[in-house]
Amino acid sequence: MEPKEILEKLTLEEKIGMIHGAELFATAGVKRLNIPPLIMSDGPMGVRNEFEPANWKPIGLTDDYVTYLPCNSALAATWNRKLACDTGSVLGEEARGRGKDIILAPGVNIKRSPLCGRNFEYFSEDPYLTKEMAVPYIQGVQSFDVAACVKHFAANNQETERLNVEVEIEEKALREIYLPAFYDAVKKAGSYTIMGAYNRLYGEHCCESDFLLNKILREEWQYDGVVISDWGGVHDTKKAANSQLDIEMSVTYDFDNYCMAEPLKEKVESGEIEESVIDEKVLRILHLMKKLHMFDGRRKTGVYNTPGHRKAALHVARESIVLLKNNDQALPLKKEGLKKVLIIGENAQCIHSNGGGSAEIKALYEISPLMGIKTHLGGNVKVDYAFGYCREEKEEESGQNWQETSLQNGGGFTGKNGETSQEAVLLEKRKALKEEALKLAGDKSYDKVIFVGGLNHDHDTEGNDRADMTLPYGQDELITQLLKIRPDMIVVMIAGSSVDMTAWEKKSPTLVWSYYAGMEGGNALADVLFGDVNPSGKLPETFYKNHLDCSAHALGEFPGGKTVAYKEGKYVGYRYHEKYHMEPLFSFGHGLSYTSFAYRKMSVKPGMVSCYVKNTGKMPGSETVQVYQLLQDGADVVKELKGFEKVYLNPGEEKRVEINVEGTGPYTVGSSLLDIRLH
Ligand code: BGC
Repeated sequence: MEPKEILEKLTLEEKIGMIHGAELFATAGVKRLNIPPLIMSDGPMGVRNEFEPANWKPIGLTDDYVTYLPCNSALAATWNRKLACDTGSVLGEEARGRGKDIILAPGVNIKRSPLCGRNFEYFSEDPYLTKEMAVPYIQGVQSFDVAACVKHFAANNQETERLNVEVEIEEKALREIYLPAFYDAVKKAGSYTIMGAYNRLYGEHCCESDFLLNKILREEWQYDGVVISDWGGVHDTKKAANSQLDIEMSVTYDFDNYCMAEPLKEKVESGEIEESVIDEKVLRILHLMKKLHMFDGRRKTGVYNTPGHRKAALHVARESIVLLKNNDQALPLKKEGLKKVLIIGENAQCIHSNGGGSAEIKALYEISPLMGIKTHLGGNVKVDYAFGYCREEKEEESGQNWQETSLQNGGGFTGKNGETSQEAVLLEKRKALKEEALKLAGDKSYDKVIFVGGLNHDHDTEGNDRADMTLPYGQDELITQLLKIRPDMIVVMIAGSSVDMTAWEKKSPTLVWSYYAGMEGGNALADVLFGDVNPSGKLPETFYKNHLDCSAHALGEFPGGKTVAYKEGKYVGYRYHEKYHMEPLFSFGHGLSYTSFAYRKMSVKPGMVSCYVKNTGKMPGSETVQVYQLLQDGADVVKELKGFEKVYLNPGEEKRVEINVEGTGPYTVGSSLLDIRLH
């Protein structure tokens, strides 16, 4: 039967059941007509664990452990579209393997400030890089008969007051910076579904916004897919019904009271809302089911936790690691001759998969950096470990999931930096850990000392923004003192968003960056440290010296109050630094390699820039060639990313690289935004 024929057979009650949550992650099906429910799951780093249908209580069985993939920021750091497709494919195949119809990913919101708690779920500060990664990701997901759900539409760039904050932005900047990834997600990738955002824009909640959903999405972009609300993002029955929202989901268990449940049914029965409004939604849902082969018995089965999926996770993790500094060529470390290594820092042994909000993962396993390094070195090398610092131990959870009360407390707050107490006991504990680490670092018998610090999901988390970029737990002081004792210490930072490293960065000749890199993150890090993998990650965002160097803070507001003014307009991330001649700590696109590359002979024809790149060093390696358009902006000439291509080269090998580009030029070609090689 065709969707239209099915629609004709449905009663009002049945139709209403299909357009709102009947469980926390499912709509109601219609048994009598063999229409299954739509089953959804978070999220970007793997398929989330199973909850009870009407309770935010994890079911707690052992069958929902999954492949834990690197977060979207890590993926963006690879600048590798194929890996974005592979990531999406793993996610799609695992989602199908777990019996899901819609996976609530990817998040394509722009990193407007380094302080946004959900930055790790997003790709970049740059709309071009974001969309270039999002499109293959979505195609990968959907190749397994699972719908991607690109989120959160739109201008959802902070957690503070996220449920109600009114974003004030000029439409031009909205279209130039915040909408392109959504546009490409629906137009190029054909994302079957899209999720509305919690916040307000131009006076309307995004999930019931006439401007976003009617005017932009349906009329301008001609989108015929399914629009799903964020969980609890709907507030007004009539507005939501008339806004082209198709499915209302929420976090509460009173499913019949959702706006698009009984209240909507009553309004249709009383004639206040036309039944045709519901029919349109149901028809779109039926078409989605058809595209997913939910009726014809030809649907892919999917599978989860395969060795291939773990290999994909490893591959992405390896390419995501960014070598920020290698001044003394201390990296890669030589295994031969190593006898004793000291690892310091809580993040060396921290597990990150199980936190962060709705992106949490019940990982099949997670290789920590400490485990990665130990398994790499084997038993003949003595690896000692010291915490150096520690996070605050959280009280035993009450058993209540944060999401259950997220409509009351999920508005976010700023300022706690993941700490709820500064108790003397905790400070004493940290002091003791620091002293122990300093003492060990002073032992000259260690051939190498490696510090692994950064953030964790007490900081990089849904529902909370950071107050500033400062490293927590006294790490600045610890690293400073350690570097005095061991100036050759290798510093590794793991986080979901940039941190202020200015207190010690100049003293640290070697600096490695890793975003949350998934279940194989520790192995990938060891591969890079010991040179089994030549690092090729490039920063997908500007690393500021301080958050005040970011335009959202310098020109606009962050996090604002009831409203937040995006006064910086289009000058987001490096666009601001370009225009205002600011110097970042590390620029957008930056990332070193163990080899070197030479560029020559740029040529430009419509839609394509090409040049020759040669590996002039001794190790095989990959380089991401970045093309920036030069744009006149008042008296200034500024650069904007318009194309990139990653190329693998053996020592001495040279290749002609062809890069598809947007815009009309003139262009420059570089190894990063600030390392321009060709004009
Ligand atoms: C988040 C969404 C998520 C949904 C379902 C909300 O809190 O904003 O990204 O998909 O919950 O868990």
